Amino acid sequence: MAFTIDSVAQQVRTFLLEDKGPAGRERVRVYLQDVVSDQAFAQQYLDDAQPQRRVLYEDTDLGFAILGHVFKEARKTQPHDHGVSWAIYGQVAGVTTMDGWDVIEPAEPGGKPGTVKLRDSIELRPGNVRVYNENEIHSPRRDGPAKLIRIEGNPNQNAPGRVWQPV
Ligand SMILES: [Fe+2]
Repeated sequence: MAFTIDSVAQQVRTFLLEDKGPAGRERVRVYLQDVVSDQAFAQQYLDDAQPQRRVLYEDTDLGFAILGHVFKEARKTQPHDHGVSWAIYGQVAGVTTMDGWDVIEPAEPGGKPGTVKLRDSIELRPGNVRVYNENEIHSPRRDGPAKLIRIEGNPNQNAPGRVWQPV
């Protein structure tokens, strides 16, 4: 099946209209496994010359955006959450290791970082898709180039996430 950004956006809209919560996102996750495995889709929407983050579709009605990410280099990020936003990470190329963290001491929004302890590390390989719900603490890292399709919920809300210190 050939996917286009319009057909993908319409399908995601349908799932989220039926259920805006974690159950709807899980249906998006399962569906996205086929999308990120489609090499023609990747070629069309993830251009090597594009910036690191490109908005492919924005839905102001339901408050989500579909983003194309092309990372050229290895990178490690600090544990963080995105406040009231959720995100679905779909790996297209390369490998992303996602560390998941448990809270030891809470953080203050926009203020003092909290502390966290490593819970698990999962590897996202091409075709793998993972949902991060609101306030879930995570930190992606990669050893080399990677391409992802990522769906962000509530991308326009001005709700800063928090950063966390590992212990
Ligand atoms: Fe993140």
